[in-house]
Amino acid sequence: MALLQVDNFKKSFGSTQVLKGVSFSLERGQVLAIIGSSGSGKTTLLRCLNFLETPDEGRLYVDGKSLLSAGQTQEQLRQARRSFGLVFQNFNLFPQYTALENVMLSPMLQKQGTKQELKSRAMELLRTVGLSEKANSYPCQLSGGQQQRVAIARALALSPEILCFDEPTSALDPELTGEVLAAIRALRDQGRTMVVVTHEMAFAKSVADLVIYMADGVIEEMGTPQEIFDAPKSEKTRSFLRQSN
Ligand SMILES: Nc1ncnc2c1ncn2[C@@H]1O[C@H](COP(=O)(O)OP(=O)(O)O)[C@@H](O)[C@H]1O
Ligand SMILES: [Mg+2]
Repeated sequence: MALLQVDNFKKSFGSTQVLKGVSFSLERGQVLAIIGSSGSGKTTLLRCLNFLETPDEGRLYVDGKSLLSAGQTQEQLRQARRSFGLVFQNFNLFPQYTALENVMLSPMLQKQGTKQELKSRAMELLRTVGLSEKANSYPCQLSGGQQQRVAIARALALSPEILCFDEPTSALDPELTGEVLAAIRALRDQGRTMVVVTHEMAFAKSVADLVIYMADGVIEEMGTPQEIFDAPKSEKTRSFLRQSN
C-alpha cells in the first residue's frame, strides 16, 4: 500500500482555481520531486499536505488512513498534522532562539520528553545535518545553508512520516545550495519519504524516484526521472525543460 495517497485535490482562492484535481501516490521511502513554473500551484499543494491550507475537495491518505475527514476532532487533526514536516523556502527559523532551541521547541511544546531527552535528540538531529558544532549559534550567526539545515533538523523533530521541501535552495547563494542538497540526499539514503519542490533539475533527476511536472494547477506529466527528463511526452513538459536548462 502507498504511504501517501493524494486524491483529486482542488483548491481555489476567490475565483482562481489553483489546484484543479491533483492525484498521486508515493511508496514509503520514495522521493517525489515536483517541478513546474512559478504560479503552477506547487506551494499550494505542499501547504494543503501540511494542513496550512484546506483543499476544497479531495482526499488524503497516509498509510491507508484518511486524514481529511469531516467532523475530525482537534486531537485527530493534531495527529494528522504530525504525519508531515515542511521546510520552507526562507528557512523561517525563530531568530531569538539558538539552533538547538529551534529544533527543540516543538517537541518541548508537545511535552515529548524531559528537557534532557529532548536536548539529546535535538543534538542528534543537528548531527544528522552536520551542524553539531553550531548548536548554540543564533540564526543571524549562521550562513543561509546552515540555517536551512537547522530548518531541516527542526522539521524532523516531530518525526514526520513524510518530509516536504518547498524550493529549499532557491533563497541561497549558488555556492550554498550544495550542502543543503547533500543533506536532503543523505535523508533519502536513510530511507526517508520526501516530497521536494525544486527548480534544481539535475538534483531532481538524481534524487527522485518519481517526478511530477505541474502546469496551471494540474499534473501535466508524471513519471520516473528518466521518463520526464529524457523522454517527456508532453510538449508543455518539453518546453518547460528547455527553458530550465
Ligand atoms: N493565499 C492566497 N491567496 C490568493 N491567491 C493565492 C494564494 N496562494 C497562492 N495564490 C495564487 O495561486 C497560484 C499558485 O501559487 P503557488 O501555489 O504559490 O504556485 P507555485 O508555488 O507553483 O509558484 C498563484 O497564482 C498565486 O498567486
Ligand atoms: Mg512556490
